[in-house]
Amino acid sequence: MNSISGNEVVFRGFRIATMEPNPAGLKCELSNASLCDLADQTDYGMLNGTAIGVEGGKIKWLALERELDQTELTFAQTVDGAGKLLAPGFIDCHSHLVFGGNRASEWEQRLNGSSYQEIAKQGGGILSTVSATRAATEEQLFQSAAKRIDSLLREGVTTVEIKSGYGLDLDSELKMLRVANRLGAEFPVCVEATLLAAHAVAPEFKGNPDGFIQYVCDTIIPQSVEFCSAVDAFCETIAFDLAQTKLVFERAKQFELNIKIHAEQLSHSGAAALAANMGAISADHLEYLSEQDCVTLGRQGTVATLLPGAFYCLNEKQKPPVAALRENQVPIAIATDSNPGSSPVLSLLLMGNMACNLFGLTPSEAFAGMTINAAKALRLDHKIGSIKKGKQADFATWNVNSPAELVYSIGGNPSAGVYKFGKRTHF
Ligand code: NIG
Ligand code: FE
Repeated sequence: MNSISGNEVVFRGFRIATMEPNPAGLKCELSNASLCDLADQTDYGMLNGTAIGVEGGKIKWLALERELDQTELTFAQTVDGAGKLLAPGFIDCHSHLVFGGNRASEWEQRLNGSSYQEIAKQGGGILSTVSATRAATEEQLFQSAAKRIDSLLREGVTTVEIKSGYGLDLDSELKMLRVANRLGAEFPVCVEATLLAAHAVAPEFKGNPDGFIQYVCDTIIPQSVEFCSAVDAFCETIAFDLAQTKLVFERAKQFELNIKIHAEQLSHSGAAALAANMGAISADHLEYLSEQDCVTLGRQGTVATLLPGAFYCLNEKQKPPVAALRENQVPIAIATDSNPGSSPVLSLLLMGNMACNLFGLTPSEAFAGMTINAAKALRLDHKIGSIKKGKQADFATWNVNSPAELVYSIGGNPSAGVYKFGKRTHF
């Protein structure tokens, strides 16, 4: 007995990039035959001639179109892809989309010879965005972030992680988290909010980073629990050290929040391994990650999230150790790191291209990095990131023949429509 009722919206006529690691395990609802088209590019788990039945916002079944055609079944609605590509909605698993102001003038300073670290030490950098974010009303923050999230959504993003970290006091961090959650409520996108209070030492605690960390642990984390699913920290010479980072993560774990880390971006600190050993779901940036760290990430199942936008915009030279990540089977995700300082980026597709051209990922690795592995970086791979029975019907459809085409070209968004929970959004 199959579960086809006729109440489904059916997507058919698409070439489907399932991004399923085991496409051979995908079965036709009618005959139980394997759907895997072995002749096709298995890296993307491609399926042809397969229909997707959607009900209640979820993928209810997959079925061979030729078998469906032999039945008398009719459906609530049929969406015909006419040969277009259908892929999982993209997931931007690391962003700082909510902030006040911008830092174009610091970018100019960098081009005139100052470094990112020097600007930060002089009280600019993250702290200048902290002033602008504190000064902005909640509505102003929402309106400016709304424009940014709209750009991501038009390029097929259906889930985005958004960090706080430009408030650095309880009220302002909560203000940022509320805005992040409101974006998820008002736009056709799922938002995962992450508390990044340990981003920089708040001005009130200047010269007293330990005092600030205590405030984060005693006050900000406990009062943020209901607004976020994860806690992040920036471990770096210009931010927090290993011991301070550890305190933040221990506190987060007491509240059963996931942990994530900004690590090994500008120097090697050992923070990625520390976080992995504490059960971090992802370690992000990682240009200075060591081979031994890759062993640790692989063993712990921590996702390596690469952020080529920050690498590019800061004109960095040290590349993340992609070969060692592969050797140790570390899942690699790609994200925008969208923020006003190191990565003023609003295109995940461009990040896919940069991950290939700058870091040497293959197009299928980049594609996995924006879908199934990005889902793993948010610990949401049971719900999103691939086309599989039971997962959310979050689809991006494209006027291209192959997934590689999407990351190969730059600009000229080839979107053919985005579907969130099976419903076409306004794009
Ligand atoms: O991910 N590395 C730390 N935080 C951000 C940058 C923040 C900023 O410069 O405003 C990042 O690159
Ligand atoms: Fe970041």
